[in-house]
Amino acid sequence: MRALIQNEKLKKLTILFAICSCAIIIPVAVISGIVRAASASPEDKGKTVAEKPEPATETAPPEDGNTTSKGYKIENIDGVTFVDGILIVNKTYSLPEDYNPGDLTEDTQKAFDEMQEAAAEEGIKLWVQSGFRTYDRQEELYNRYANEHGADYAEEYSARPGYSEHQTGLSFDVNEAGTNFEETKEGVWIDEHAHEYGFIIRFPEGKKDFTGYEFEPWHLRYVGKELAGHLRDSGECLEEYLGITSEYK
Ligand code: DAL
Ligand code: ZN
Repeated sequence: MRALIQNEKLKKLTILFAICSCAIIIPVAVISGIVRAASASPEDKGKTVAEKPEPATETAPPEDGNTTSKGYKIENIDGVTFVDGILIVNKTYSLPEDYNPGDLTEDTQKAFDEMQEAAAEEGIKLWVQSGFRTYDRQEELYNRYANEHGADYAEEYSARPGYSEHQTGLSFDVNEAGTNFEETKEGVWIDEHAHEYGFIIRFPEGKKDFTGYEFEPWHLRYVGKELAGHLRDSGECLEEYLGITSEYK
């Protein structure tokens, strides 16, 4: 009989324990679920653990602007643009205001000296009419040009400050800048021989749509003999060859 009573007590205790356990565990589980849902980041909400994004395995495509339409690499180093390793300044690509090599670069001057000597042997006198220009000097020239000839005309022959190749020390105007220079014997000689010394006529006739400038037979740019020879043979201007634009933004 005593054993029966003890068995009954044990049963009651077990049921009581089970009820108490449920009363504690269920609210704790519910509350912790609510807290976890509320603290999840917006991106995580609504996702299960299995939906966590996988780490990217593919290489990202190159960003726009890293290559030209002809596939050449565009690099910007301290505000200076290089396309296929060639320093580029035009209406699209400018220079920092304080970019200042101080004079024509050594390579440019050396190539000019060689060309001048070779020309002199054929009775052709060449000189640098306008070489390296600072940002401020270009600003003066551009403003003077615009005042004398009007803004539209200035844009066809003169670069805005920060957009002139003269600021690179790689370009210069040879002899007299003027529309009939190409007809003089010096102009004819430059047209035929400048590439042999690494120079290109930077704004050739009929290429305004590419270069952004009218024909300037006197404005030379040093690019080295190999590229100068190639452009002479192909008849392309630099923008055309590299697949770049020359337009103010
Ligand atoms: N005449 C060229 C475009 C310059 O001003 O740099
Ligand atoms: Zn020039």
